[in-house]
Amino acid sequence: MTSHLRKVELHCHLEGAAAPALTLDQARKYNIDITPYLRDGAYVWHDFASFLECYDKVSEVYKTEGDYALLTETYLAELSGIGTIYSELIVSPDHGKRIGLGADAYIEGVCEGIRRAKAKSGIEARLIVTGERHFGPESVIGAAEYAAKAKNPLITGFNLAGEERMGRVADYARAFDIARDAGLGLTIHAGEVCGAFSVEDALNDVRPARIGHGVRAIESTDLVKRLADLGTVLEVCPGSNIALKVFPDFASHPLRKLKEAGVRVTISSDDPPFFHTSLKREYELASDAFGFSDAEIDNLTRTGIEAAFVDDDTRRALLAKL
Ligand code: ADE
Ligand code: ZN
Repeated sequence: MTSHLRKVELHCHLEGAAAPALTLDQARKYNIDITPYLRDGAYVWHDFASFLECYDKVSEVYKTEGDYALLTETYLAELSGIGTIYSELIVSPDHGKRIGLGADAYIEGVCEGIRRAKAKSGIEARLIVTGERHFGPESVIGAAEYAAKAKNPLITGFNLAGEERMGRVADYARAFDIARDAGLGLTIHAGEVCGAFSVEDALNDVRPARIGHGVRAIESTDLVKRLADLGTVLEVCPGSNIALKVFPDFASHPLRKLKEAGVRVTISSDDPPFFHTSLKREYELASDAFGFSDAEIDNLTRTGIEAAFVDDDTRRALLAKL
């Protein structure tokens, strides 16, 4: 039972949080045939590449500023309903451009959703702008420049998501330099689809405060020690890892081993309905599948607040709510 615990989420892709029912409404509204990607109330994909394709297709049924406000408010309402006090949403202004809405209107819609959710429940949220590896280094640099120039107080971090098997982290290092110079918090997907080398690349070429997933660091004892020594925070998404077959089952998932080795870990849902999960379920898994006590789970949440990309006053206020 984790329903009484306060919760925090550092790693959730906004469009990846779209409930199938909402996506279906949107597809009907715009007369888009979404059946290849959404059937019987569930998203349809079978491996990492087809998941990314499904994700991109689903994202395309959200078209206007109002659609993004609705999507954001709906997800944050779900989170606040289960006791979540802080959420970081991974967003892609580049996606806004690709669908013809424009990056500014896309971000404005998301920010409106955040304001509405905060007014109703008090939930605090920030945005992590992401580049998508499979759209190439130039597009990722564009995303970093957008985030750097936006001067939007809700945009506080920069990420790299997408097809981890495409290129090496060094190809995207310039984008992270731009984001770092702008004072944004840095996090990067690594050690999810690719092995320990990708986490090593991330540490060497980006020096991020946090790593999205990072769980395959477990393949190298030296690397696990390096993560622990550096204090790098892992945004671990167990349900996502099992759905994508990064590990065969929860018994073989390294969350507990990483924590016991001194690595700072947090839990998140990644793309919840795509992976038949939710932040509520991830907290339940922490207890039921990983055997963490309430105090240990609060500790994961505390690490999340400590690693959140927020100013010190907000961090203090969040810690006081724990
Ligand atoms: N984009 C959305 N979800 C992702 C994931 N789990 N890994 C990489 N890119 C993503
Ligand atoms: Zn992710």
